[in-house]
Amino acid sequence: MNRDIEKVLFTKQQIEERLAELGAQLAEEYHGKKPLCICILKGAVPFLSALIQQIEIPLEIDFMSVTSYGSSAKSSGVVRIMKDLDISIEGRHVLIVEDIIDTGLTLRHLVDLLEQRNPASVKTVALLDKSICRTADIEANYVGFEVPNEFIVGFGLDYDEQYRNLPYIGVLKKEVYHIG
Ligand code: XMP
Ligand code: MG
Repeated sequence: MNRDIEKVLFTKQQIEERLAELGAQLAEEYHGKKPLCICILKGAVPFLSALIQQIEIPLEIDFMSVTSYGSSAKSSGVVRIMKDLDISIEGRHVLIVEDIIDTGLTLRHLVDLLEQRNPASVKTVALLDKSICRTADIEANYVGFEVPNEFIVGFGLDYDEQYRNLPYIGVLKKEVYHIG
C-alpha cells in the first residue's frame, strides 16, 4: 500500500464487483438508446474506462473538463467549461460520469447546463457519494459507494494531481495535506 494512505476503503476487487453491478443496471436502463457517456475530466477517467466495459450495449463516450469559479477550497457551483464536448447532445440520452459528488454544486450546474442543449434525457452516475456534505439539491441517479467526510484519493481521485493511479480507493493521511 502507498505510505500516504491512512486506510483503504474499497479494494480493486470490490470496485470491480460494484462496477459490474452498476454496468448491468445501466445496460438495462439504456437498452436500445445508445447513450452518450460524458466523462468529467480528469477524475472520472479510470471510472469511465472500467464502467463502460461492464455496460454491454452500444454506447458512445465524450469528455468535458470543468472548473469551479471562486476560491479553490470551496466549490462555488458556478462551473467554467475548460473543454466542451466534441459532439451535439441534441436528442441524445446523456449519462454524466463523475468521480465524486461532494456539495453537489458542480453536478447541479452541469446538469442544468446540458439540459439547455435539448438532450432526450440527462442522468448521472458517480463513483463516490459524500452525501453528508450535500448543499445543492441533487442526487446522482446511480452511485458506486457512499464515502465518509474525509479526503479520498485513488482510482482517479487526486490530491494535488497525485494518487490518481492507485488501483484502490482510500483515505489520505492528514499529515500529507496539512504539510503539503
Ligand atoms: P462538489 O462539491 O461541487 O465537488 O460536489 C465535486 C468535485 O470536488 C472534488 N472533490 C474531491 N476530490 N477527493 C478528491 O480527490 C475528495 O475527497 C473530494 N471531494 C470533492 C472532485 O473533483 C469533484 O468533482
Ligand atoms: Mg481534484
